[in-house]
Amino acid sequence: MENLISLVNKIQRACTALGDHGDESALPTLWESLPSIAVVGGQSSGKSSVLESIVGKDFLPRGSGIVTRRPLVLQLHRVEENREWAEFMHLPRKRITDFAAVRKEIQDETDRETGRTKGISSVPIHLSIYSPNVVNLTLIDLPGLTKVAVDGQQDSVVQDIETMVRSYIEKPNCIILAISPANQDLATSDAIKISREVDPKGERTFGVLTKVDLMDKGTDAVDILEGKSYKLQYPWVGVVNRSQADINKSVDMIVARRKEREFWANSPEYKHLANRMGSEFLAKMMSKHLESVIKSRIPGLQSLISKTIVELETELSRLGKPVASDAGGKLYMIMEICRGFDQIFKEHLDGVRSGGDK
Ligand code: GDP
Ligand code: NA
Ligand code: MG
Repeated sequence: MENLISLVNKIQRACTALGDHGDESALPTLWESLPSIAVVGGQSSGKSSVLESIVGKDFLPRGSGIVTRRPLVLQLHRVEENREWAEFMHLPRKRITDFAAVRKEIQDETDRETGRTKGISSVPIHLSIYSPNVVNLTLIDLPGLTKVAVDGQQDSVVQDIETMVRSYIEKPNCIILAISPANQDLATSDAIKISREVDPKGERTFGVLTKVDLMDKGTDAVDILEGKSYKLQYPWVGVVNRSQADINKSVDMIVARRKEREFWANSPEYKHLANRMGSEFLAKMMSKHLESVIKSRIPGLQSLISKTIVELETELSRLGKPVASDAGGKLYMIMEICRGFDQIFKEHLDGVRSGGDK
């Protein structure tokens, strides 16, 4: 099944790479029909921290205030070899192994688009991470929802962020990772508020409770984590990310994960939930969910691809055979990609029929 998620990653990359010419084919429709996971929540609720915990790497700009100002489309690829690297789509074929440099490039690339104004932009940054320590997933980090504009920002920024976030999560194929901090009243959670608007039945929303370690003494999150406070179709997952003090002390991810496991296992109130709490559990659960969603979409994707191939063949024959010419060349390329997918889908379906589901 992991192959399926990496297949989807490939389709997404192909669609984005061909995005400029997308109106010539059904590829934009194909892209819209693929599942992705978007992380939403209020500013400083812990969105970037959750993403980093899932990846198990320090690489995102983090901190107080509005740090994430462009959507970051993050594709995780599991590799067998024991090395890790990152690649940006805007820097093709450049393997970056220093994750501090990845953080710097995200900041620089954000500034290139927004001109250092603390403004926001809906143009996404595409980043791929290759590692033996990740599960295959596509995640989207979004700017945090906020109530007031800060230093030099336009007043419209509050509404602009909300509009941008909504444009991602209102798509029926978007799986929402709704981040709420445990040290604030759940009733005031921006994540819950906006996800309820676009997904009233909670059918594609996963509730994540951060900062469980920061709750007032004498209070706990058991009711929330057991789904008694706010019910979603999927179980809530609590996480303990690194605190600002941990980050300042450069506490490494492996240590942070171990401490998190100990937190759940050793807290009398959470012990009974320990096997379904934490970042590692969250990552596995999301990967599994993505697999089942993709699997259910295969027949639809397959007919869309077949339709695209027919359309492209017609278009190519109308153009004659100018494969070397620009338009013909691109169409030809798109068609080759589609044929590749068609083949893989067929093989997968054959595999399912013969009982070999891998
Ligand atoms: P974002 O704005 O939603 O992306 O939030 P960040 O991930 O940048 O986190 C904001 C701040 O909260 C940082 O200082 C984090 O260290 C801190 N933080 C996030 N999650 C937790 C948590 O679970 N526990 C603690 N103690 N601090 C956290
Ligand atoms: Na922040
Ligand atoms: Mg952030």
